[in-house]
Amino acid sequence: MPAKNYGHDLRAMRNAITPQTRIVFVANPNNPTGTLAERAALVELVNEVPPHVLLVLDEAYIEFLGNDAVDLVPLIRQGRHKNLLLMRTFSKIYGLAGLRIGYGIAAPELVAAFEKIRQPFNINLLAQIAASAALDDEAHVSKTRQNNLSGLEFFAQAFRQLKLETVPSHANFLLVRVGDGAKVFAGLQKLGVITRPMAGYQLPEWIRISVGTPAENERCLAALKMVLDFPAGKN
Ligand SMILES: Cc1ncc(COP(=O)(O)O)c(C=O)c1O
Repeated sequence: MPAKNYGHDLRAMRNAITPQTRIVFVANPNNPTGTLAERAALVELVNEVPPHVLLVLDEAYIEFLGNDAVDLVPLIRQGRHKNLLLMRTFSKIYGLAGLRIGYGIAAPELVAAFEKIRQPFNINLLAQIAASAALDDEAHVSKTRQNNLSGLEFFAQAFRQLKLETVPSHANFLLVRVGDGAKVFAGLQKLGVITRPMAGYQLPEWIRISVGTPAENERCLAALKMVLDFPAGKN
């Protein structure tokens, strides 16, 4: 399904469902664009997906939204939407990617189906203990969310001044249009800054930058200016 303004076209996805459709998969916020589905469009999709289709919502970046997130958990609790699966991870805002742990939220009937194929002991004990502690660490979550918001704003403002196009992001990274994405990615890597080239997503002119600490963001911006031959002081 072609993207619309770099985001998912949920209405078109809904209209493309046929009796043969088994799964509709939506990452929201999306990777690599960072776009967020409009609340009304998301609720419409959830309400209109027919019962024979499993609707998977990958919410890997949902914690970065704070109060702007659409909370679909009550719908599942109420026993409606037995074909809805929410997927979350500890790899993003919680910073525990190396522990390989995440979770899903779904109706008991759907969870029972997953239990049939789940490997025994699939999540190790240390990961479970760390994840459980992470859920309680609200201070870390709000600090990281705040750092992310100011980092996104830092890059958005800098790129506005440099007249580089960006896609407004709701995740912990943002896309910036740099011309030859592969070349700029390689140039940055030589300077010790790792970004992601986007040709694999049919966005060859773009790179994706992950938000870091303020010092890391500054370093990334300085390196990018160097690679793109902008005067060092221009920001
Ligand atoms: C949308 C989305 N879902 C899931 C993941 C991966 O999560 P995990 O580390 O839990 O496999 C990523 C990470 O890049 C992602 O962007």
